[in-house]
Amino acid sequence: MGEIQITPSILNSDFARLGEEVRRIPGADWIHVDVMDNHFVPNLTFGPTMVEALAKASDVPLDAHLMIEDADRNALDYVDAGCGSVTFHVEAAKAPVRLAREIRKAGARASMALKPATPIEPYEDILAELDMVLIMTVEPGFGGQKFLDLCLPKIRRARALMDKHGVETWLQVDGGVSLETIERCAEAGADVFVAGSAVYSADDPDKMVAALREKASA
Ligand code: DX5
Ligand code: ZN
Repeated sequence: MGEIQITPSILNSDFARLGEEVRRIPGADWIHVDVMDNHFVPNLTFGPTMVEALAKASDVPLDAHLMIEDADRNALDYVDAGCGSVTFHVEAAKAPVRLAREIRKAGARASMALKPATPIEPYEDILAELDMVLIMTVEPGFGGQKFLDLCLPKIRRARALMDKHGVETWLQVDGGVSLETIERCAEAGADVFVAGSAVYSADDPDKMVAALREKASA
């Protein structure tokens, strides 16, 4: 298991002041940017041009979460935009191994996301190709949804498979992560935690990042 990392999502921040919003969380390990295309999920956010501007707005590296239909063709645009980590959804990728290799070759960490009903077991043999696996703990599309406890056994099974294969792959959780739920995720084996509304609804988002880190490390 890797070190505990907190990656706030800007999805529920003020989109009219994004530059200022990302500078409110200097203590974050990564900034999670949720790219949505209104096809893979029923919501629309931003594309590579905006992500490129965000990458220049903060020293904290960007962790792109692509909720887009055509991941195979578009993922590298986010490496070019300056993201240090790029996550595609396995339900959207036609050739996940090729895509992960392309992302790594382009110079970013390659990561694969699973929706709540997608099992981890079929991907056991490709874990070594991935720098991170993202297990969604809500159906992707919106911030502020309720954490799905039914995803916890999958986090445990993913951690067990990573241990079995001795890979260094990080295990990220995303959706409904808060001071209430983060301990459950950490106990199940997650080491990278996305938190959107929990961070940006706090009076001091950076203090919330520290509080989440402390809870996950306990
Ligand atoms: C949902 C996004 C999440 C979202 C998390 O589809 O992938 O990153 O912003 O927001 P919270 O933490 O509010 O569930
Ligand atoms: Zn996300």
